[in-house]
Amino acid sequence: MVDFPKAFVCGHPIKHSRSPIIHTHWLAKYGLEGSYEKIDVEPGQLAGLFDQVRQGIYSGGNITLPHKEAALSLVDHTDDAAVKIGAVNTLYQDGKYLVGNNTDSFGFAANLDNQIPSWRDGQQALILGAGGASRAVLFALISAGYKKIYLANRTLSRAENLASIFGPKIHPIALDQSQMHVSSSDLIINTTSLGMNDNSPMPISLGAAKSDCLAADIVYIPIKTAFLTDAENHGLMTSDGLGMLLHQATPGFEKWFGQAPIVDDTLRQIVLDDINKEDA
Ligand code: ATR
Repeated sequence: MVDFPKAFVCGHPIKHSRSPIIHTHWLAKYGLEGSYEKIDVEPGQLAGLFDQVRQGIYSGGNITLPHKEAALSLVDHTDDAAVKIGAVNTLYQDGKYLVGNNTDSFGFAANLDNQIPSWRDGQQALILGAGGASRAVLFALISAGYKKIYLANRTLSRAENLASIFGPKIHPIALDQSQMHVSSSDLIINTTSLGMNDNSPMPISLGAAKSDCLAADIVYIPIKTAFLTDAENHGLMTSDGLGMLLHQATPGFEKWFGQAPIVDDTLRQIVLDDINKEDA
């Protein structure tokens, strides 16, 4: 056993993870004894690290690429979100059991609850992209009661696969069919890497969107994606991807260090400064 709680984020590579900035900020803010470190773990070493949580050497940790899917089969219990999303990002020991949850969906919803609470009043949504992040957004939208969700993807079969997992509210469509669903959507979310680091055009323009439509991006580098710029130009309410990153971290911190942390503007600015430093 350790005399103070130790947590980690593990991945491969792990150099660029911003999780240590978030958790060490909260440890200092709340005056808690504890540590949070980056651990570069090759796929074959993951089970060994998890055993260290079982033994109490670590209180738990975050799991990131490429281990989120493999983690699912290495834990004793998972929450519904982890099962549906098919990935674990938060690990802790609960009595005899190693628990692996997925907090990405919680993070997406908690951020919108904070910024634009009216998002829960929506009925219809359009999601661009059908990768890992899209699964977390789908789980959040279904939990929030959305009735009809168009899921647009370049590779249609990936959207169809998610529809088979998430049920009949999901309508898979090809990415080039997404524009026709803009005007009837209450919430439009970009989960693709489009507008991130290349100049590929977005498949939709938001000019036809309802004036109270919300636009959210899960990408946070750059903080203002091409999608969010288009939304702002058309006067829509927007939410960027950094809020989801900050909010997904709160359940793990509470489990490991015993304090429910608050996401505030100071933390947001600290992470933004780090992103900008890297870009400079
Ligand atoms: P993540 O975990 O961030 O969701 P991912 O699983 O690699 O990452 O998914 C990336 C998403 O961006 C996918 O929906 C992908 O579409 P495909 O399933 O067709 O690959 C989408 N995407 C990436 N580059 C794209 C591009 N140039 N045009 C259209 N969609 C793109």
